[in-house]
Amino acid sequence: MRILIIEDEKPSAEALREFLLDKGYEVEIAGSGAEGIEKFSSSTFDIVLLDWKLPDMEGDRVFERLREINPAVPVIFITAYGMIERAVNVLRKGAFYYMTKPIELEELLHLIKEAEEKINLRREVEVLRETVKEKFSFENFVANSGLMQDVLSLAMRAAKSNANILITGESGTGKEMLARIIHNASYRAQGPFVAVNLAALPETLIESELFGAEKGAYTGADRTRPGKFQIASGGTLFLDEISEIPPSVQVKLLRVIQEKEIQPLGSAKTIKIDVRIISATNRDLRKMVDEGEFRQDLYYRLNVIEIHLPPLRKRKEEIPYLIEVFLKRYSKANKKQVKGLTREAMETLMRYHYPGNIRELENIIERAVVLTRGDYIGLEDLPFHVRNPETKGRKASALAERLRQEERKIILEALEETGWNQSEAARRLGLSESTLRYRMKTLGIKRKN
Ligand SMILES: Nc1ncnc2c1ncn2[C@@H]1O[C@H](COP(=O)(O)OP(=O)(O)OP(=O)(O)O)[C@@H](O)[C@H]1O
Ligand SMILES: [Mg+2]
Repeated sequence: MRILIIEDEKPSAEALREFLLDKGYEVEIAGSGAEGIEKFSSSTFDIVLLDWKLPDMEGDRVFERLREINPAVPVIFITAYGMIERAVNVLRKGAFYYMTKPIELEELLHLIKEAEEKINLRREVEVLRETVKEKFSFENFVANSGLMQDVLSLAMRAAKSNANILITGESGTGKEMLARIIHNASYRAQGPFVAVNLAALPETLIESELFGAEKGAYTGADRTRPGKFQIASGGTLFLDEISEIPPSVQVKLLRVIQEKEIQPLGSAKTIKIDVRIISATNRDLRKMVDEGEFRQDLYYRLNVIEIHLPPLRKRKEEIPYLIEVFLKRYSKANKKQVKGLTREAMETLMRYHYPGNIRELENIIERAVVLTRGDYIGLEDLPFHVRNPETKGRKASALAERLRQEERKIILEALEETGWNQSEAARRLGLSESTLRYRMKTLGIKRKN
């Protein structure tokens, strides 16, 4: 933290500086208003301590200039006694605080800490906003393949309508990302985007979470809470894992969609809502309808337009583009400058089948960026199962089966040799007794009578 002290009385400026240096701050002193403005505009400071009475200009003039240069930096005024009225004025104009002389150092320190907290919070929010903006921006949505071009064109047409949309696709194919992009491309973009993961909520809470609850509507409802429908009004409600919605809530959801109003739990009032629903699922909802697990009428209400996201293995030509996006994202996050991949690493990633789809690819790249020591991600930075996909699947199970058979034979042999004395057999095998017992159990080894 860098602090600028604008104060013409040398001894008190020096005393302040000593004190703040001692607390670990970096401190600069300016002896006049002009010098303060000059320093402030040519360097960066986090906090300013500004004396009201300066030889060349009044404090509020200096303050105005500082605001023009950088309005985000908190300014603490130091006024002589009897200037309260003016001080109140600058507070109104956005100064952080004012203190009267003589300065209580501990009080000042307390104020600076408070200002610091504010600064840190704001920075966090900014970083968060940037990441969210970056992550869900159109430019970072990779859709180079013919398959994804079709998806995108359907999504953009759907975005312009008010129709409810169902996004289907395996886990990690980008359902939530697409939902946000649709929201951003819709005329509701200025409204909220509210996501609810139905799989993450206990069944008993889903209803109040969606539709809200009056204080005392159920045990634990200590205050009136708005439902997600109400919060999303004017925007988009994203119902993730819609297949997990219990039958009792299905009926209510259907009615809400039809009536366009909600009735919070324990309330006699109904509330008008204006929400577009985008739901997502990685299960086969139509099949659930056929099997009576999901209401057909609700299915049709939610699924006015269906958008299916194909698995990554069906659009492998997008892998290099996705890698580029993720490399940039995680190089930045890890303050590294990874330039690319070696040819072997790229070929390996092109061959892999990605059961976890894009999320899995993203994790692989994040991990590799963290691990790599050089400018290029190499084979050694990829997880074992990605490098050796043949150990998965059929070949793997054949090998594993052979190993099991061999192990079984050897353990049986040791047991026979020792007359089924398990501690002696374990000793000869170099295993602990409990390991031996565990292996016997998993291999199905029992003593025949
Ligand atoms: N087309 C794409 N371009 C760039 N990044 C993508 C794309 N699709 C998905 N991603 C990224 O992949 C990750 C997984 O996406 P998302 O969370 O949207 O998937 P999902 O289908 O909702 O997964 P799950 O079913 O597991 O919840 C996210 O980090 C997302 O940013
Ligand atoms: Mg998701």
